[in-house]
Amino acid sequence: MKKAIQLLRAGELVAFPTETVYGLGADARNESAVLKIFERKGRPTHHPLIVHLGDVAQVGAWTDHIDACLAALGEAFWPGPLTIIAPRSALVPAAVTGGLLTVGLRVPSHPVAAALLKGFSDGIAAPSANRFGRLSPTSAQAVRDELGSTLHVLDGGSTQVGVESSIVTIEDGQVVLLRHGGVPIELLREAIGPVTDDTHGASRASGMMDSHYAPQVELTLCETATEFNRWDFTDPDIAVMGLAADLPDHGARTHFTMASVDEYARHLFESLRAADELAIARIVVLLPPATGLGTAIRDRLRRAAAPVGQNDTNEAQ
Ligand code: TXA
Ligand code: MG
Repeated sequence: MKKAIQLLRAGELVAFPTETVYGLGADARNESAVLKIFERKGRPTHHPLIVHLGDVAQVGAWTDHIDACLAALGEAFWPGPLTIIAPRSALVPAAVTGGLLTVGLRVPSHPVAAALLKGFSDGIAAPSANRFGRLSPTSAQAVRDELGSTLHVLDGGSTQVGVESSIVTIEDGQVVLLRHGGVPIELLREAIGPVTDDTHGASRASGMMDSHYAPQVELTLCETATEFNRWDFTDPDIAVMGLAADLPDHGARTHFTMASVDEYARHLFESLRAADELAIARIVVLLPPATGLGTAIRDRLRRAAAPVGQNDTNEAQ
């Protein structure tokens, strides 16, 4: 931790766990440090980064104005898996926001992230710690596999939530959800009333288009047991994934069986990585219901299943 803080102060990169996925962090006030993030990830520099803060009280330094509804969401869900997009203050380097006039802010709850932010005592810009267009890492080993062993990684074990933060902003006075994530839309609505789901809309920010969570394994997404049962699971190259309670008898040699929706989210990316390592050709996936965290899981699976190079609203992050 001490070394991590020293490295950040020296303008170097540090990977750290958050409750969602691991982040690749740099001093958010240091433009040249921030540029190293893009280089290390192979990410285009116009894709904006999230600034992580240790304390809600620091939010005012990074944004000139936070809408009352968004502030209420911050109050309800921070520290936690929520990112709020608000107009950026003059001190936010342009490199952080990819030239946008807004900035993404998040106060993570993971104790290691919290300790790092407290020790550093300023904002840390961090995207997920994967190479551009690939699965977000949910363990320190996955970070090293993605970005190399020379990177200083704070190892906090496997992350709790397993999918990235939910992203909200305000547009024409409406609270808008831009990315499904760790805080389900139902909980956002419970906290502040109407929230528009714009996770597929054209108004999404640059950096949220054209992309991919690109595992090697082919994914077949099934809504129903009938679709699922069309596959021949005696083929050892075919694995299955789904909620234990919903999966029909299958007899597949490799299975990613999730006891709950929370566990589905927590083990999703790790399972896709494991399938690649096992050189599984295909996973036949029984999708979780589109409620709660299930919505974020379905979103990530849909992106991961999309053919490489498909030009739609997949996000490459
Ligand atoms: O859970 C998470 O959010 C993780 C952990 C590390 O905090 N971070 C993460 O960062 O997923 P990244 O860069 O992989 O995804 C952030 C998304 C990108 O799609 C980016 O375009 C969007 O947030 N974003 C960031 N700032 C934005 C802004 N000012 N306006 C619109 N979208 C923004
Ligand atoms: Mg990402």
